[in-house]
Amino acid sequence: MRKQIAAANWKMNLSQSEADSLLNELFQTAFHLAAHQEAIFAVPSIYIHQTKAKLAGKQNMYVAAQNCHQKNNGAFTGEIAAPMFASVGVKHIVLGHSERREYFTESDALLAEKVNAVLAIDSTPIFCCGEPLDIREAGNQNIFVEAQLKNSLFHLSAEQIVKVVIAYEPIWAIGTGKTATSEQAQEIHAYIRSVFASKYGQSIADQISILYGGSVKAANAKELFSQPDVDGGLVGGASLIASEFTAIINALQ
Ligand code: PGA
Repeated sequence: MRKQIAAANWKMNLSQSEADSLLNELFQTAFHLAAHQEAIFAVPSIYIHQTKAKLAGKQNMYVAAQNCHQKNNGAFTGEIAAPMFASVGVKHIVLGHSERREYFTESDALLAEKVNAVLAIDSTPIFCCGEPLDIREAGNQNIFVEAQLKNSLFHLSAEQIVKVVIAYEPIWAIGTGKTATSEQAQEIHAYIRSVFASKYGQSIADQISILYGGSVKAANAKELFSQPDVDGGLVGGASLIASEFTAIINALQ
């Protein structure tokens, strides 16, 4: 059974004490995640240690990084390498978020290198893809997203690709309050799965979790997650509100 995942993306938000309060409030709820369900917290790297401590002993809950450098070490002031995250117990790293692609000019080729770096330390890349508004309005979202996947992931073996989690995040829905309808999400998620099926075969494609991101909230999570090819969500704004993210975790199928 493929994994169903609720992933929080805190982005560059919260002070240390606010982060602590959010997790305390969240864990007033006792979550009962099934074996195929996970909750992941992509927090600012400076809070990884404290978040990991809060998650200790909690079933199927993991702390994640929001980015890493493509090289394992060296003179790259201010950067953090994948093996460093591994050394502090981080097993999931978000890669290629549209904010990183846009503000830090991360290219498909660079992301291919980062994917390799994360897989090399036996961790899970949460690989983001998704189109801007003009591409959606022109009806070219499928070709756009397919190119992102091909350029950054198609060099991987079948054994490697099943270790990657995909997050489809239409840029026009991120932080805008504008969510893709569950039909729009299902349509492109099914397309993404077909792209993997054509390269790796259907049984491999069926093992890949594809999360939806873009204004996921308590009010729409259940409907989005009930779509056959939507395997959970990558959640920004609503993951900063304990009651919202609690409901989103509980909406996992
Ligand atoms: P949002 O962000 O939920 O605030 O739209 C999602 C994301 O960027 O991962």
